[in-house]
Amino acid sequence: MKEINGKYYIGETAVSTLAEKYGTPIYVYDEEKIRENYRRALNAFLKYYPDFRFFYAIKACNNPAIASILKSEGAGIDAASVNEILLAKYIGLGGEDVMFSGNFLSDDDIVQGLESGVIFNLDDPSILPRVLKYGRPEIISFRVNPGYGKSNVGDFVTNAGPNAKFGVHPEQVLDAYASARNAGIKRFGAHMMPGSCITDYEYFPFITGLLMDIIGSVRKKLGIEFEFIDIGGGLGIPYRDGEASLDLDKAAAETAKMFSAKIKEYGMKAPRLMMEPARYFVGNAGYIIGKVHSIKNSYKKIIGADVGMNVIARPVLYGAYHKIVFDGKDSGPREKVGLCGQLCENTDYWIKERELPANIAEGDIFAIENAGAYGFVMSYQYNGRLRPAEVLVKGKKHFLIRKPEEFKDLVKNTKIPRHLQ
Ligand SMILES: Cc1ncc(COP(=O)(O)O)c(C=O)c1O
Repeated sequence: MKEINGKYYIGETAVSTLAEKYGTPIYVYDEEKIRENYRRALNAFLKYYPDFRFFYAIKACNNPAIASILKSEGAGIDAASVNEILLAKYIGLGGEDVMFSGNFLSDDDIVQGLESGVIFNLDDPSILPRVLKYGRPEIISFRVNPGYGKSNVGDFVTNAGPNAKFGVHPEQVLDAYASARNAGIKRFGAHMMPGSCITDYEYFPFITGLLMDIIGSVRKKLGIEFEFIDIGGGLGIPYRDGEASLDLDKAAAETAKMFSAKIKEYGMKAPRLMMEPARYFVGNAGYIIGKVHSIKNSYKKIIGADVGMNVIARPVLYGAYHKIVFDGKDSGPREKVGLCGQLCENTDYWIKERELPANIAEGDIFAIENAGAYGFVMSYQYNGRLRPAEVLVKGKKHFLIRKPEEFKDLVKNTKIPRHLQ
């Protein structure tokens, strides 16, 4: 986002223009920024390990237009559910361009996953016999929990280690691959996802070493080769002013160094190195534009807006911080105030106290930054509030990429039995 004379712009388009044209609240994404983020990250890893590919974790922002941008840059899709596999198919990706990392799969998930021909990434050895009951995937990977996890966004989001629900215990990994091989599977990969929003570059080579020691020993004992090793997502972005950014070049260089050293140590045929980030691509390329409805001076001063926890769930869900800028007001005096949405829940008072412009008035337009990842996808209809529109900006142009919900969307799957009509 750019600031010119106190007014904010996404791409070359004024925030005020977007608010006027599409109303508020709206999610807005900057196409050029997504492409820049993607290319910066891809080039960093390709420089040190040429057989490298990203799979975009579509869960972070599942609008097909956004996923299509990443597809056009060459990304595959990391799908967490059958519907995410279908979303990938909707934008023209399937087969081994899609990795299915579902959790606690139902039989129905398994059957539909098999039909789609995607890469099966199993979260537990107990799922293998259930998969084999219905078919034999061409390629199998296991999600390993290497016993270590890290998160810059709170313990709730630590995806590996003893308190996580994900992944195969290191002591079960050998048997898991042995069972797959004994069942006639011939192609293998390995996966982990231990960290979320990591801006410390040393994390990436460290976890790569952990996984490669587990997988290298499987390679030695079973004699199987691995076509790919996926070290997960987790490339972090700063959310607060002054927070350090991830040193991508160091992360890529050190990860590739560790990866290559372990390949050599265990005598492996060099696998493809894969990652499945999302936040790094779309996080800082997405914004929520909102409007101040009213200002209350009661026990405390509270700014009441149309962006509540139904529109931005992360602060209430796990204490996440999002910067807010006020169009035309940020250079003046500031004061400590609260900010809330319109829901009948006090948790919707999602900023209890923050320095914001002292002259905020009814009707003011603001933008919430870093809202591109885990934003719209976590919105919901509580209190009959409808999900907002999504808009894509490309320079001076802008496109509606998801219509706002209407009342009919609130009742569309409901039915009133005849005796109640
Ligand atoms: C399995 C898996 N892969 C990738 C990601 C993407 O993570 P990030 O957006 O932190 O890069 C997630 C996010 O939770 C995930 O669960």
